[in-house]
Amino acid sequence: MSDRDGKFAGDDPYALMRRWLEDASASEPNDPDAMSLATVDPEGLPNVRIVLLKAIDDDGLVFFTNYESRKGREIEAAGKAAVVLHWKSLRRQLRARGTVERLPAERSDAYYHSRALQSRLGAWASRQSEPLASRGALMAEVAKVTLSRGPNPPRPPHWGGYKLRASEIEFWADGDFRLHDRFRWSRDGAEGSWTVTRLNP
Ligand SMILES: Cc1cc2nc3c(=O)[nH]c(=O)nc-3n(C[C@H](O)[C@H](O)[C@H](O)COP(=O)(O)O)c2cc1C
Repeated sequence: MSDRDGKFAGDDPYALMRRWLEDASASEPNDPDAMSLATVDPEGLPNVRIVLLKAIDDDGLVFFTNYESRKGREIEAAGKAAVVLHWKSLRRQLRARGTVERLPAERSDAYYHSRALQSRLGAWASRQSEPLASRGALMAEVAKVTLSRGPNPPRPPHWGGYKLRASEIEFWADGDFRLHDRFRWSRDGAEGSWTVTRLNP
């Protein structure tokens, strides 16, 4: 695409995403890595919430959560998801959709053990997305797991990472008079070569 230059240039969408996230890290006041993660329930009703984009690998986007949470169950059932990041300071948007699978256990272990002890214990204490009687009940659970799990808890089996392998990635940047620039990268499955298409705004 001859006019795909400047901030849109490159031949690897994951490398381009890393560049955009770096740009955002320099200008966003908070959480440049916050992304909206959309899943779908068995009836086809969508669901969306923020998670942190913890890594942009050469083959996908990595985030961490509770596998038994609502999002975890929806991902396990559908095997697919979509994400969007919006950086107000840059007036840019990044979207991706594709298949999702769990990270290898060793990678989830490594990330889990890099976290603060309180966060590691929190992952044991919180039955994410389940009803909770009170804040006090959660604190009591934290106290309980602090005693039972000790200062070096193993990663809970219900907590870990996912990788979204995109079949479509879209880069959007604000243009004058709503004539925004959009480039969609798409490929068949997670392996084929990428096709880049400029889209109407
Ligand atoms: C800035 C921000 C970052 C968040 N990061 C995560 C995250 O990385 N992982 C996660 O499980 N939840 C994260 N959350 C909480 C989720 O948005 C959500 O409330 C929770 O995961 C439960 O979602 P679910 O019931 O749809 O599974 C974050 C929320 C915010 C506002």
